[in-house]
Order: sequence, then C-alpha cells, then structure tokens
Amino acid sequence: MEKKRYCLVGVSSRGQSMFAKSLLNEYSDVADLVGFCDINRTRMETACRWLKRDIPCYTDFDKMIAEQNPDVIIVTTKDSVHHQYIIRALEYDKDVITEKPMTIDEVKCKAILETEKKSKGKLVVTFNYRYAPYITKVKELLKEGIVGDIYSVEFNWYLDTVHGASYYHRWNAQMANSGGLLVHKATHHFDMVNWWLDQEPEEVFAFGSRKFYGDNRYTPSERCLVCSKASECEFYLDIKGQTGTKEYYLDAEFEDGYIRDRCVFSPTIDIYDTMTVAVKYEKGVQMAYTLSSYVPFEGWQVAINGSKGRLEAGQLDSFLPEENRNFAERTELRRKSIDRFKAAKGDITPITSDDISFYPLFGGVQTYTIERASGGHGGGDVRLKDMLFRENIPDPLGHSAGSRAGAMSILTGVAANKSIVTKKMVNVKDLLK
Ligand SMILES: NC(=O)c1ccc[n+]([C@@H]2O[C@H](COP(=O)([O-])OP(=O)(O)OC[C@H]3O[C@@H](n4cnc5c(N)ncnc54)[C@H](O)[C@@H]3O)[C@@H](O)[C@H]2O)c1
Repeated sequence: MEKKRYCLVGVSSRGQSMFAKSLLNEYSDVADLVGFCDINRTRMETACRWLKRDIPCYTDFDKMIAEQNPDVIIVTTKDSVHHQYIIRALEYDKDVITEKPMTIDEVKCKAILETEKKSKGKLVVTFNYRYAPYITKVKELLKEGIVGDIYSVEFNWYLDTVHGASYYHRWNAQMANSGGLLVHKATHHFDMVNWWLDQEPEEVFAFGSRKFYGDNRYTPSERCLVCSKASECEFYLDIKGQTGTKEYYLDAEFEDGYIRDRCVFSPTIDIYDTMTVAVKYEKGVQMAYTLSSYVPFEGWQVAINGSKGRLEAGQLDSFLPEENRNFAERTELRRKSIDRFKAAKGDITPITSDDISFYPLFGGVQTYTIERASGGHGGGDVRLKDMLFRENIPDPLGHSAGSRAGAMSILTGVAANKSIVTKKMVNVKDLLK
C-alpha cells in the first residue's frame, strides 16, 4: 500500500507535538510528512530541528500544494484562519484534517460547508475528547438507554489558574482570533453533548463576563518579560527561562510579533472568563452549562437526567493541596491529578481511575470504574490518531467527526456569544440560513 502524503499548515505547538512528531514516528509506515506551511519561518525551522528532519517549509500554501502534491492537509494554525486553509485545500479536492474549533463564526462555517459540498475532499474535525475511554463509556451507557429518555443535562467545566490563565497570555485572549472560550474551548464540550445525546442544538441563551482576567487589575506592562511586578505576580510566565517556549515563540517573534507572554490583566483582552449557557436540543433536552477559567482546580462534572434515572460523570484534575502563588511551580505541580475530596481528608495519592455513577429513579446506584488511560486528553489523542492515520479502524460508536459535527459544536458557542451581546435567545439553525 502506498503511503499517504501529509502537509501541515500552522506549525503550532499542537501541530508539531500531536501530528508532525507522530507522522514521522508511530505512523511512518503509512504516512509521509512532506511539507510545513506557516507565516513564521523561524518557528518552522525550530520544529524541523526538534524533529531532526528536514521537512520542506513554505510560507506560500499554494506553492506547497503544487510542489508536494499532498493527499491530506492538516490544519493546526490559530483558530481564526482555519477556514482559509480548509477552504483552499477543499478547492484543490484534498482531504482535510482540522484541529478544533473548525472555525470561529457562522459566516466562515457556512463557507466551509458549502465548499466541502462541491469538493471531492472530505473534512475531519479532531474531537479528541470523544476518543477518551471514559467519555466513550458515557456514550456507550447512554446508547444502551441507561437513563431512558433524556430530559436534561447539567454540565460544568473548570479551568485552573495555569491552564485557564494560559489562554489570556496569548492570541486566544482576543475574540477575533479564537471566538472566545465559548468557541475555542467549549467546542469540545458542546461536541461531547451533541455526540452523547445524538442530537443537535436548537436554541441558546447565555451570560458572559470578565470578572478576573483582563482589565481587573493594574497592568504594569504589556508582557511578563519586561514586567516590574514579575516577582510578585501569580501569573508571571518566564518565557526566557523555559527553553522550549523561548525557542518556539520568543526567538521567533521578530517575524510576526506573536507575543506568548502577554499580561493576563491586559485591557486588550476581550474574551469572557465567566460563562453560563442554556441550550435546548432538537428533541427537547435542556442543558445548563458553565465554564470558568480561574478555578483552584481543573476538571468537569456532568449529570444527565432521564426517564429511568440520573447518570453522573466527571473527572477531577490538578488540585494543589497547598497554596502556591508561583506560576512555574504550579505548572509543574498540577501535572499530578489529585482527588480534591480525598485530599480534604489527607489522601493525596494520584488518581488512577474515574467512576461513572447511575442512580435509578427510585433508589440504588450502579458504579462503573474506568482506569485512567495514558496520553493527552484522557487517552483521546492516541486513539484519535489511529483513527485518522490507520485504515479500516472500526467505528461502531461514530467517534469520527465530520464538518456537520464541527459546525454544530461551534455554533452553540457562536450563538451564546451573540446572546450575551443581544440579551436575546439565538436559534442555532438560523445562523446557517
Ligand atoms: N484538540 C485539542 O485538544 C487542542 C489542544 C491544543 C490546541 N489545539 C488547537 O490547535 C491549534 C493550534 O493551537 P496552539 O496553541 O498549538 O497554537 P500556537 O500558538 O502554538 O501556534 C499558532 C500557529 O499558527 C500560526 N499562524 C498564525 N497565523 C497564521 C496564518 N495566517 N497562516 C499560517 N499559520 C499561521 C502561527 O505562526 C503559529 O505557528 C488551535 O486551533 C487550537 O485550538 C487543540
């Protein structure tokens, strides 16, 4: 069998570590990585040096296609330009794999869907969370009908003071780049619910505000690198001290002005850090969803209520048993997942498994214990890559996601952003008309 030829556009941290590295190693028997494209040459050259390969590097996408004739384009740029490369690649009748979010607004979304209809190429969106064994188990249980007819969903997602803060240090902090966290981040969560329920969202109402980051504290400087308050700030990012970050971003910023350590209290931040969304789905299911990006720990909780009972799921992460105001130290310490409820009783052994609990309507409980899988995003990343790069992987639960799923997951966030501004309910399907 001939190997497929892949080009990667947007030699981002994610593009390099999740896709380029794997194509060159675990999937080298079935794949050739034949081109990089980015607006930043220095970053591409650094990636080649790290990967120890001489990948042809381009700043001109069309030239890359003409010279390398790839079968598949992988899009891992910043979110706001995904559509440009997805559309161009589809116009060349190429298959496309894009990172989430598929795009950031309804106009770009429509353009993608319309181009795909005319193309021989196919678009896949990389919803890695779907593939995590724990999240897959929720899908299986719901598909088996454990809760009966589903009536409502309660869903809360918590980002901690490292991961959450990371979005305010860089391009994600501007709506124009990311669509805000209701698109950039919540696309994962809205996709999980769409997939679990096998339903599409219909109506959305939302509140959003900036309570913590942004213009909520005196900003001494545009960025951490030159900040006079560096020694006392809980969010000081030492871009010079972290070798990888320095090489990938600081040493490359002269080319495009991409500053990776912007002040998280900058008045230029215009995304929300506190979000509450109400969604009604096509078969009448109601969801209450919250997303907070400055919580003392990371994790999520969901409850799904139905005619036969209530299913509760969720994962705990990154709890620090002791206060630590140093950003670099917190970044390191949070790598261990600690159960905050057990920690309150003195047990800080790292978490190795997670439970899903089903409470039948009139009493009792059934518990399903799922071992934690290794690899990024709860073991989702590695399973997703097998599905993307290997042939004939069975897909009985429909893990693989196309443009429709990509659209439906972002449009909940896009509708929520509109609702926050207009204070009105927004119909999701109307956005596509
Ligand atoms: N699925 C996941 O769990 C997951 C995790 C992390 C990131 N991501 C996604 O991966 C993508 C990259 O995120 P990141 O944080 O690694 O990014 P990053 O900040 O490391 O890099 C962004 C890259 O985009 C490039 N770029 C910007 N404008 C461009 C343009 N016009 N043309 C070509 N390249 C351009 C930049 O030069 C840079 O190399 C995003 O879409 C993000 O949402 C997904």
